[in-house]
Amino acid sequence: YYCFSDLIVVTVDPGDDVILPCQADDSSIRAVEWIRPDLEPESVLIYSDGHLETDDQNPSFKGRVELVNRDLKDRDVSLILKNVSKHDAGTYECRVITDNINSDAPLTCSNL
Ligand SMILES: *[C@@H]1O[C@H](CO)[C@@H](O)[C@H](O)[C@H]1NC(C)=O
Repeated sequence: YYCFSDLIVVTVDPGDDVILPCQADDSSIRAVEWIRPDLEPESVLIYSDGHLETDDQNPSFKGRVELVNRDLKDRDVSLILKNVSKHDAGTYECRVITDNINSDAPLTCSNL
């Protein structure tokens, strides 16, 4: 069912692109969700059934986010956030849904 680990701090300059690392602990990945719990809507990126879903995405991330590995190679579900500004500062959480049940508690995995 679910994944993964570690709080990391990433520092960037405005206008830069940044990679927020996250790795699933199982390769049977069904869906990936990146969120920022302090925002409404909280969704940064949703990847499900092989494609990005933008319907519920927070508008401030539209066109600025993608996965490093579209094919989720090596369980890598890291996020690329482009053209960052000071409004992007916050805690980002990576959630991964897999076929195997490990835990259902979402874990913080990256911190901009
Ligand atoms: C980057 O974001 C700023 C606003 O934060 C915007 O003015 C600028 O056009 C953006 N640059 C690109 C390449 O999208």
